[in-house]
Amino acid sequence: MMTRMGPVLVASEDIQAKVRELGELITEDYRGEKVLLVGILRGAVVFLSDLMRHLELPCEIDFMEVSSYGTGTQSSGVVRILKDLQEDITGRHVLIVEDIIDTGLTLSYLRRTLLQRKPATLEICALLSKPSRRRVELEVKYLGFEVPDEFVIGYGIDYAGAYRNLPDIRALRSEDAHA
Ligand code: IMP
Ligand code: MG
Repeated sequence: MMTRMGPVLVASEDIQAKVRELGELITEDYRGEKVLLVGILRGAVVFLSDLMRHLELPCEIDFMEVSSYGTGTQSSGVVRILKDLQEDITGRHVLIVEDIIDTGLTLSYLRRTLLQRKPATLEICALLSKPSRRRVELEVKYLGFEVPDEFVIGYGIDYAGAYRNLPDIRALRSEDAHA
């Protein structure tokens, strides 16, 4: 499929303002503690790198890469860990940092997996969510924006590896005649 950038859904200035706000909230909530940010590769790297600069807390970062088993675009809810954490999270305050939540299956699985390692706390911070697509209940403590059921790109989020470097979040459009 030939694709192109569609309209801006969340402009760069609005993303930056929201990331600052989330950083302030997290700073309040974790005051006096040290937090381990767990970025989900690869989409969350842009968000994580901006977010951490708004945390006035001792903080460390680590990363996981996962891929969901499934046929085509249909997510099965079974997640394969491609890259695991390097840190032992037992007894630590862990904050998962994700780019976008769609069905919720990936984070739901990840949350269960990480809880088995007995962190002191485990919360989720996601920049975007598509609530109309949710298939499992998932508590997201820190959320940036809700977006409609459209395929989005930019600010770390890709289509087939491309568009991660866009400063705004946009919809993806296909070049098909009837698109
Ligand atoms: P979930 O398990 O269905 O919640 O899928 C979450 C993952 O699907 C995210 O981490 C993204 O990698 C990917 N994803 C979901 N929606 C989009 C989108 O609109 N654009 C790009 N990637 C997406
Ligand atoms: Mg992802």
